[in-house]
Formats: sequence, C-alpha cells, structure tokens
Amino acid sequence: MTDIVFARALHVLAVVHWIGGVSMVTLVILPAIKHFAEPARRQSLFEAVEGRFSGQAKISVTLAGLSGFYMIWRLDAWYRFLDPAYWWMHAMVLVWLLFTFILFIAEPLLVHKLLRCHATTDSLKVMHFIQYSHWLLLFISATTVVAAVIGVHGVLI
Ligand code: HEM
Repeated sequence: MTDIVFARALHVLAVVHWIGGVSMVTLVILPAIKHFAEPARRQSLFEAVEGRFSGQAKISVTLAGLSGFYMIWRLDAWYRFLDPAYWWMHAMVLVWLLFTFILFIAEPLLVHKLLRCHATTDSLKVMHFIQYSHWLLLFISATTVVAAVIGVHGVLI
C-alpha cells in the first residue's frame, strides 16, 4: 500500500505545481503585464514569460496523469467512472484532458499562430481573451481540487 501513498503524494505535488502556476499567471503575471507594459508589448511579454512555465507544466501534467491512473489501477477503482457520485473523478480526468490538449496540441500548433495574426490589429482584444480564458481555466481547476479533496474523504457533494 505504500506505493499508493507515494503515488498520491506525487499526484498532489504535480497538481500543486501545475495549478499553482496557472494561479500565478492569472492572478499576478497577467495583471502585472497589463499594469506595467504598454499595449503593443503586452502579448510578446506574456508569450515569453508563459512559455517558460508551459515547458514545466507539460512535465507536471504528465506526472499528475500517470500517478492518477496508477492509483486507479492499484485501487481497482474503474467502477467509479460509472457512478455519478464520483463526478469529481470525471472532473479530474476532464481537467487533465483539457490541459493536455492545450499544452501539447492547441498551444504549439494553433494558439501562438492565431494570436500573432491578430496581435497587430487587435492587441487589446487578444489580451482580454488571454485573461478571461485563464480565469476560466483557474476556476474549473480550483473547483476540481476542492471537489477531489472532499470526495477523497468520502463526503458526497
Ligand atoms: C488523468 C487525470 C487524473 C486522474 C486519473 C486522477 C486520479 C486520482 C485518484 C485515483 C486519486 C485518489 C482517489 C482516492 O484515493 O480515492 C486522486 C486524488 C486527487 N486528485 Fe486526481 N486525478 C487526475 C487529475 C487530477 C487533476 C487535474 C486534479 C486537480 C485539478 C486532481 C486533484 C486531485 C486531488 C486534490 C486529489 C486528492 C488528494 C488527497 O486529498 O489526498 N487530479 N486523483
């Protein structure tokens, strides 16, 4: 059973690094860029700073997924996905899928190109889109963290 305890510790560490980073970007870096940089420089500054985090986030998202599926396999907990009372398990996997898609597919292949296309014409709109999409991701992730901790301790929401 100690392997499950270590997998859980690794899972929580990975989630803390990953969602903590999303909080930092949303609540500190984006408002600071808005406050200190003139509109024309905001997007390139954001891409430079966020690019450093997204490399690290790829590692923590991967570790969170591996440790999570390992725990499900060891606990033989696949049946939970058929029970709506375990909706927080579905929420974890959905948040993980969303970030995996963003970090490994959308961001490198689509988002940066799209943002650069609109940067010159609509830089303020682009920054609004970036800020609001980060707020949404943070809200969904934080709700999932709360639901998972409550759910793991056997309280039904
Ligand atoms: C593929 C994705 C994921 C899988 C398969 C997964 C699976 C699991 C499993 C099996 C547990 C332990 C449940 C138990 O002991 O009964 C767990 C705990 C937890 N997970 Fe996930 N998870 C995933 C992604 C996430 C994400 C994205 C978050 C946060 C947004 C998250 C946050 C947590 C938290 C906070 C706990 C509770 C830790 C504790 O209180 O001990 N997980 N996860």
